[in-house]
Amino acid sequence: MSQTKPKINTTRLVLTKIREGDYLHAGEEEAIDMVLKKVLTLDRKLPAKAALDVGSGLGGTANYFYQQGFKDIQGIDLDPAAIAYTKVKYPHISFTESNALELDKLYPSPSFSLIYLFNVIYAIQDKATLIKKLSALTVQNGILVLFDYAEGKRRTDFPIIDKENTAIYPLQIDDIKKDLDAAGWKIIDINDLTQNYIVWYQGLVRKINNPSSQVVSEFSQAELSQVNKMYSYLLDLLEKGDLGGVVIYATKK
Ligand SMILES: C[S@@+](CC[C@H](N)C(=O)[O-])C[C@H]1O[C@@H](n2cnc3c(N)ncnc32)[C@H](O)[C@@H]1O
Repeated sequence: MSQTKPKINTTRLVLTKIREGDYLHAGEEEAIDMVLKKVLTLDRKLPAKAALDVGSGLGGTANYFYQQGFKDIQGIDLDPAAIAYTKVKYPHISFTESNALELDKLYPSPSFSLIYLFNVIYAIQDKATLIKKLSALTVQNGILVLFDYAEGKRRTDFPIIDKENTAIYPLQIDDIKKDLDAAGWKIIDINDLTQNYIVWYQGLVRKINNPSSQVVSEFSQAELSQVNKMYSYLLDLLEKGDLGGVVIYATKK
């Protein structure tokens, strides 16, 4: 009996081709390098310890960590198509289909010294529950990294509905501080990345507008213009101050 392979969303395929890597977060490798540098100053032995990529997408981020020495790393994602893709492309890493809000079923006791989320928590409305569940999975002094959209200076009505009708619930700093504290996390740093996001998305939009001949041969003009519309919209929100970017580091008390 033949089984239909789950199909990866076209926007994601366009993005990975434009970004030249399996990354679905802002800043691609530059953003990961920034995070790696910071977490290694917090614990230089971290690469030898267990790490979890929550919302691992197409696996490029977990694989980049793996290449930097994090051999005990695994990923989880809600999307069966993404998990099917990562299992084939990165067989040296374990990827599991799961909802981040149900990770307690997958890992019943504290298992990880590093848990990170790159552009994932924006999609999860109930951040308090998520933060609590991630705390239960983390060993004492383990590290949590939240890299994502944040509230901007102006706008207060959330979610933002993007051009593909996806709801974006940006991190609201006062709320997430409370959620982290209530779940047993100590905040180490909160770094505003809004300017970085603007530069990263300006570069991305420029590349979408000047696609390589390979990208042109693989995708229709309509598909490219859909992705252009989406990122131009997000860039506009960032430039107007209606949306921001942030990275938060916390340790488990
Ligand atoms: C923008 S992509 C980022 C992927 C990856 N972190 C990266 O850096 O390339 C967001 C990912 O989060 C996943 N996701 C969203 N909500 C989730 C949830 N509740 N549980 C697990 N994964 C989730 C989506 O399926 C998607 O693959």
